[in-house]
Amino acid sequence: MRQPIIAGNWKMNNTIAGTKALLTDLIPLVKDAKAEVVVCVPYTNIAAAGELIKGTNIKLGAENVHWAEKGAFTGEISADMLVELGVEYVIIGHSERRQYFGETDQTVNARVKAALAKGLKPIICVGETLEEREGGLVKDVLVRQTTEAFKDIDKSQLENIVIAYEPVWAIGTGKTATAQDANDTIAIIRDTMANLYCKDCAENKVRIQYGGSMNPKNASELMAMPQIDGGLIGGASLKAVDFSQVVKY
Ligand code: 13P
Repeated sequence: MRQPIIAGNWKMNNTIAGTKALLTDLIPLVKDAKAEVVVCVPYTNIAAAGELIKGTNIKLGAENVHWAEKGAFTGEISADMLVELGVEYVIIGHSERRQYFGETDQTVNARVKAALAKGLKPIICVGETLEEREGGLVKDVLVRQTTEAFKDIDKSQLENIVIAYEPVWAIGTGKTATAQDANDTIAIIRDTMANLYCKDCAENKVRIQYGGSMNPKNASELMAMPQIDGGLIGGASLKAVDFSQVVKY
């Protein structure tokens, strides 16, 4: 069985003060959640968030990690640095990084390897743009992004990896993929994993989230779909009540 996983992606939001306020509200609201609950926070908030969620069911995540172990990479953060702060999950290849910061399928793969080597669990983001969708390229894009992201990744690591299907046109726009569409598109990704690894690996090992304007109103419908194992939540993760309602879908 694949345990559902709901992760907040705070993106570039919240100072340390805001982190404390949000998590203090959130902790009691999600304490009985059946899903695994993760908050992926900006680097500067990781230490404070880690202190606050100690002993709770909320797990700590980061929003990116560099592929090198260390060295002359001004402004970057390594896997060791995240591990030292108690980080468990790390988002890799978010569409905003692909769009604004030159992230490629190759750098995604390099980051995934670096994260796994240090025991971090990657949340690998894939998803098509509106242009690609309208051009009938959804399958091509998802097969390519998934295949490249998992290059040289051993089967034994699949239980430590989450995939987030985030159609770019649904992020921050209020437009959600219909539950059926999200389900069917995630099935393409799962088929790809079956081809890359094995059917059992795809069915039982790797979890695939949906992300893109997921909120308290649409969460239960999305989570009811057989292919959808959770959500990666942007805007709605910034409000404790909203996020808790998604977590409890
Ligand atoms: P929104 O939930 O704000 O659409 O963001 C989704 C997302 O990008 C999560 O990584």
